[in-house]
Amino acid sequence: MKVLGLETSCDETGLAIFDSELIDSDSDNGQQGLLGQVLYSQIELHAVYGGVVPELASRDHIRKLVPLFHELLDQCGISKNDIDAIAYTKGPGLIGALMTGALFGRSLAYGLEVPAIGIHHMEGHLLAPLMGANPPAFPFVSLLVSGGHTLLIAAHGIGQYEILGESIDDAAGECFDKAAKMLGLEYPGGPNIAKLAETGNPNAYSLPRPMLHRGLDFSFSGMKTAVHNLIKDTDGSGGSGNGSDSDPQVRADIAASFQHAMVDTLVKKCVKALKQVNMSRLVIAGGVSANSHLRTTLETELAKINATVHYAPPALCTDNGAMIAYAGYQRLQAGQSDDLAVTCVPRWPMTELPAV
Ligand code: KG4
Ligand code: ZN
Repeated sequence: MKVLGLETSCDETGLAIFDSELIDSDSDNGQQGLLGQVLYSQIELHAVYGGVVPELASRDHIRKLVPLFHELLDQCGISKNDIDAIAYTKGPGLIGALMTGALFGRSLAYGLEVPAIGIHHMEGHLLAPLMGANPPAFPFVSLLVSGGHTLLIAAHGIGQYEILGESIDDAAGECFDKAAKMLGLEYPGGPNIAKLAETGNPNAYSLPRPMLHRGLDFSFSGMKTAVHNLIKDTDGSGGSGNGSDSDPQVRADIAASFQHAMVDTLVKKCVKALKQVNMSRLVIAGGVSANSHLRTTLETELAKINATVHYAPPALCTDNGAMIAYAGYQRLQAGQSDDLAVTCVPRWPMTELPAV
């Protein structure tokens, strides 16, 4: 079964074909069944505004969807008539951006007379690490860390999600992005902080680990303020708050200390969650799960409690069409599909998803 996946919830236009007949291949590249994918990022379009402009995002998705679709078919060496089903991101996200992919996908499915299904963006992230040859079995704890969400979930099966904890303010990725901006780094901040941190001392400055001893919820706004104050106290510009004026080593030390505090907080909450629900597998997903300091720290800390950590290749951690195609495949295979009405939902609790 070949499923076309469409991701347009924010500022990436992602399209991919998941082909279930490729699942049994011997090589475990962490993206079993992926026949091909194309991804267009709107980062440059929004950069001058300092954030994503929803109307511009929608218009750009419309411009790119058809050419990217043809590019994907060429890359996969198939024609549109070879597509057996279409999955599109239905929410959560920017409503206009969601509508572009949903309408394109739903109309194409109608024309091709194949089923279509709307997918929850965060479920796409959650299931992406299962695209390996030896996927972690349910149940597991999932840490979903993206630009818009920070969630700790007990996943008992596809669509059977129990929220254990979430951020009460900024998302983890958002905090990386804001800290990066204060340090004069470009968006998206996560990878740029990680790069700058490579030459910094993670113990140079002590940053707060908010809500460490209070349940499984997160709070990152205090950390943001702490970074702001640290930059003001250390930069050579006399307190303008523009970290790009600081000594390069000081900036690297701030980046490393910040990353260390973020990772430390996330890891401690994951350990706590695994113990609380008595599970031994952790699956991390979403853009921040591409962070190599987070991955290696989790590997070390979880080994101490006989638990394992699982994640997708970096390209499948950030937004992409493959995760939507794969989630769509899982639900279509279980007999689920959506009718002709296209309803996108900007906010959509994961606990409302139907079980598979
Ligand atoms: O999942 P994603 O691509 O989009 C959303 O659904 O939000 O996540 C994007 C977020 C951004 O905040 C970005 O800075 C962060 O993921 N990110 C990272 C890394 N790569 C992406 N954060 C830390 N380290 C990384 N290597
Ligand atoms: Zn995402």
